[in-house]
Amino acid sequence: MKPIQLLALTAVLFVALVGFRTGKRPAPNGWATVADTLKVDAETGLVDDTNLMLVKAQCTACHSSKLILQHRFTRDGWQERIRWMQKYHKLWDLGESEKVVLDYLEKYYGPQTARFSNTLRRAPLKNVQWYQLEQ
Ligand code: HEC
Repeated sequence: MKPIQLLALTAVLFVALVGFRTGKRPAPNGWATVADTLKVDAETGLVDDTNLMLVKAQCTACHSSKLILQHRFTRDGWQERIRWMQKYHKLWDLGESEKVVLDYLEKYYGPQTARFSNTLRRAPLKNVQWYQLEQ
């Protein structure tokens, strides 16, 4: 075998081996857990849910969904924002939809619920048992 052939063979084997190894490498810890819970709407970034369309219609007519995404309020807090927009910013009476909108906001954009910035997170662990590390 000529040196150039040997070189080419080595290169092919190297590429094949590296390709094989990278292909098998598992995703870094966390990726799977991030993707497995909630889906978000591509247009608004709001959590996809059966009531997404209604929320989009009521809440993204005047401003970007970012105003929603960057806040976390309790149910009462969200209702106060709605009253405030109704008082000062010509937001209409939401009627029957108000409950649905509040259910949605409380579920996904409450103080300790699902979404944290643009990453989907699990809820904080409850009843964690701590133990003393031996020195
Ligand atoms: C009729 C127009 C209109 C609609 C519809 C509307 N908003 Fe607003 N909203 C506003 C205006 C105007 C502001 C003030 C924007 C600013 O400060 O730049 C605002 C601000 C906000 C803020 C920021 C409040 C703060 O404390 O800074 C949030 C959160 C918000 N809206 C959520 C919602 C939600 C949820 C809905 C659906 C129920 C909704 N908006 C529907 C007009 C509207």
